[in-house]
Amino acid sequence: MKTLSFKNGDAMPALGLGTWKSKEGEVYEAVRQALRIGYRHIDCAAIYGNEAEIGQALRDALAEGTCTREELWITSKLWNSAHRQASVLPALEKTLKDLQLNYLDLYLIHWPVALKDGIGFPTSLDEFVSLDEVPLTETWAGMEAGVDQGLTRHIGLSNFSIYKIKQLLASARIAPEANQVESHPYLPQTPLLEFCQQEGIILTAYSPLGSNDRPPHLIKADAPVLLKDEIVASIAEKHAASPAQVLIAWALQRGTSVIPKSVSPERLRQNFEATTLELDADDMAQISMLDAHLRFIDGSTWAREGSPYLLADLWDEDK
Ligand code: A2P
Repeated sequence: MKTLSFKNGDAMPALGLGTWKSKEGEVYEAVRQALRIGYRHIDCAAIYGNEAEIGQALRDALAEGTCTREELWITSKLWNSAHRQASVLPALEKTLKDLQLNYLDLYLIHWPVALKDGIGFPTSLDEFVSLDEVPLTETWAGMEAGVDQGLTRHIGLSNFSIYKIKQLLASARIAPEANQVESHPYLPQTPLLEFCQQEGIILTAYSPLGSNDRPPHLIKADAPVLLKDEIVASIAEKHAASPAQVLIAWALQRGTSVIPKSVSPERLRQNFEATTLELDADDMAQISMLDAHLRFIDGSTWAREGSPYLLADLWDEDK
């Protein structure tokens, strides 16, 4: 299994199991099955609402000896409503309790967006908190305390731009070591990947299959379906593989970590087997033509009329 190395030599399996959208009642079996197949990296987040069930699966798999805790790589994420420095450790402790673990391998700031205490997704404008009020440097100090206390081995970011990473790097005591962002052939994130590689930051690709099961408000009528892309399908046919396998192999060959979500035993296995698929230079060149700068998760949840977040300030593309 291919791994990506952190600065202290810790190795993260490049392929992980995504759990966003994995429903309660389904995620227990998905995690058990994934671990039996050989997955050792599970990507979680408090806001997914399923960490307690994932925790039961981890507990049972460890008790049955499917793998050891040391072989596992467990990532989770701090929700937007816990950005105050004093809120970070309690949120991390809650995630550890739910996952039935005493440490995480990686803890990420989920979004560069702050919300009032207790808010999942805002329903009114007064539930937003601006970054002037709770700066990301304050949140990061809470994340660093998580490392100091041995609650997480590594800390990082999610949905952060080059601009925001640079700002944090300027003052961080512990440099962020990972950034998890949407990435697939329609949104390859090449400048961000190159920047992260220069800085020793691992980039993890979320929505690598295009997240067709995303919530309806994130589905635009004219949005293309990545898994049905003709170029991807033709490359899949050439290798007697599936489109999903091509997308996963592409992500791995670019040096990113990748976390496809599935709750189907057959697709979990298929996705795992993508680690042995080798794309050639011609395949990679053809896929690079698909860049459409298309975000399926475009940040519009945060950039509401009148909220302190504008799309331009979220992705910082003109900075
Ligand atoms: P399911 O969970 O029923 O397998 P993403 O990882 O980009 O968020 O995409 C997840 C979506 O892709 C889910 O709807 C998932 O369905 C589906 N999916 C996962 N693996 C495959 C596969 N190998 N082939 C087709 N669809 C897949």
